[in-house]
Amino acid sequence: SSEEAPSTDLITLTRHVLSDQLRLGSAATGDLTLLLTAIQVTSKFIATNVRKARLINLVGLAGETNVQGEEQKKLDVLSNDIMVNALRASGKTAVLVSEELEDAIIIEEKQRGKYCVVFDPLDGSSNIDAGVNIGTIFGIYRVHCLTTCRTIQRPDSSGTVEDVLRPGSEMVAAGYTMYGSSANLVLSTGSGVNGYTLDASLGEFILTHPNITIPSRGKIYSFNEGNSMYFYPPVTAYLKAIKYPAPPKTPYSARYIGSMVADVHRTLLYGGIFGYPNDKKSKSGKLRLLYEAFPMAFLTEQAGGIATTGTKRILDIIPTSIHERCSVFLGSRDDVQDVMKFYKEVS
Ligand code: AHG
Ligand code: MN
Ligand code: MN
Ligand code: MN
Repeated sequence: SSEEAPSTDLITLTRHVLSDQLRLGSAATGDLTLLLTAIQVTSKFIATNVRKARLINLVGLAGETNVQGEEQKKLDVLSNDIMVNALRASGKTAVLVSEELEDAIIIEEKQRGKYCVVFDPLDGSSNIDAGVNIGTIFGIYRVHCLTTCRTIQRPDSSGTVEDVLRPGSEMVAAGYTMYGSSANLVLSTGSGVNGYTLDASLGEFILTHPNITIPSRGKIYSFNEGNSMYFYPPVTAYLKAIKYPAPPKTPYSARYIGSMVADVHRTLLYGGIFGYPNDKKSKSGKLRLLYEAFPMAFLTEQAGGIATTGTKRILDIIPTSIHERCSVFLGSRDDVQDVMKFYKEVS
């Protein structure tokens, strides 16, 4: 019947990650689970602050500018501090990179662990004051060690910036939390993508979206078309093709929130394409490679989609600096392949 009793067997995020480790016999020790527990706590803490922001004078500017030249909002700074404190205290991290901090933090020996976390503490800053969805994005590397590094062999490391100047394909986990009508944490540890919803009364993230897979084609495109006059010809031609298709095809719907977390979340669930291309104004694109493009590309591929700069797989890029930017198209396989075709054919 439709009136089933509520479940008495809740699958929490921690339970799920632990059972995955057992089931997949992965080499992951409990350390990654403990690190993920610390990240969950930061998401809960940020979520409560987001909810109360208007009431406790947490909206508006903090008065400082970050290394990217953006004015920091109070919530950007608070979320950054929450994450740095919790990740350091977890004892599981060696290197931290945040959008809001110019330099990487190298964790002092006493508290050092094996993982590096790159993060965007608060994504979608421009949406905070309007109460529109915002989020946190994170990616996790293990410090270089001879036995596990796939692309570049380096000696064992105790944690330097080199440990995060690596292709996104070497991440061991990536995810985001979206602060919307509920707080949703979406995570991949390299074997598919799962979504969890915060049950605020329990204080636990509960598995609500097992095994997220992106439809192979969608009906939605998500670009800031206000940048149209700067777009390069392949992008202009692609957008024209999806807005003025040859019958019997019908045009796509436009959805653009302006918080990458929310736009990617919708793309994972509904399909379609999200794009923030490089253009004549933003020559390298706007989104940051380490803590925006890589984690979202990791999740997209794990969900069966594609993430590309237009000409190159995002996860293959080898970063040369921690705040570098890149062009991004991600989403449904067929839709992203369409845009890649325009990059091949239009110049
Ligand atoms: P952040 O708020 O962390 O600086 O990120 C903003 C990013 C991303 O969330 C979003 O996709 C994009 O910037 C929106 O940019 P526009 O306002 O140029 O559309
Ligand atoms: Mn910012
Ligand atoms: Mn961001
Ligand atoms: Mn941010």
